Amino acid sequence: MAVGIFDSGLGGLTVLDAVQKRLPDLPLIYLGDNAHTPYGVREPDDIYNLTTAGVQSLFDKGCDLVILACNTASAAALRRMQEGWVPEDKRVLGVFVPLIEALTERQWGDNSPPREVGVTEVALFATPTTVSSRAFQRELAFRAIGVDVEAQPCGGVVDAIEQGDMILAEALVRSHVEALQRRMPKPQAAILGCTHYPLVEDVFRDALGPDVAVYSQPSLVADSLADYLERRPNMIGSGEPGFYTSGDPKSVESKATLFLRRKISFETLE
Ligand code: DGL
Repeated sequence: MAVGIFDSGLGGLTVLDAVQKRLPDLPLIYLGDNAHTPYGVREPDDIYNLTTAGVQSLFDKGCDLVILACNTASAAALRRMQEGWVPEDKRVLGVFVPLIEALTERQWGDNSPPREVGVTEVALFATPTTVSSRAFQRELAFRAIGVDVEAQPCGGVVDAIEQGDMILAEALVRSHVEALQRRMPKPQAAILGCTHYPLVEDVFRDALGPDVAVYSQPSLVADSLADYLERRPNMIGSGEPGFYTSGDPKSVESKATLFLRRKISFETLE
């Protein structure tokens, strides 16, 4: 029995880690499309094709429910997948909504009209494709009014993390935060809208300063998944837990082991 977790690369491991802490008995199958990372600079059609191929592999391994632990895939492909591609007995869930529900102080399933919320100035940090999709603003507009979102496309950060170059990743984060602050000097909240960014969350927090509330996805997604599975326990599916990559398993597992601070073994996706 397993739930699938998909990302373009290593970032989804931040979600997997939080899910394992929240639901320790839930078997998970992880797939990172490291051969094609980063997604955040690709065209939407390309992302759609890569994401459907990856999710299909997880269905083939016995998953009935797959979490797209990738904002870029959620922004560029999820709606199209849900409208015409996902089989009726399967589900694919993205990572945006739990974050926006937390920001807008909503419980799951609260479909009341948009209203004013506790924040009016929000900084969004995400990949260039996620930013240009405006998917975050679209989802927010269903739930909140009067929120000004300033988005910073954080070019290069995912690439640096995938290469294991954390010095470069840190320097890029600091320069992206500075660029954002030139346009919005005092955001009340910051959204880390890419599942790779929790790996450099301390740098974001330090650069943003103590007055900015930082919303990071992993634990929000884990709580929302726990809630979902309570309502839909039949979606747990079947299949052996495991970690798969379309890239080089040795290189992926050494970085994964470093990031999660425990031994993780990856297999090549057949
Ligand atoms: N972790 C993905 C996200 O949440 C990174 C996308 C990429 O590969 O650029 O957006």
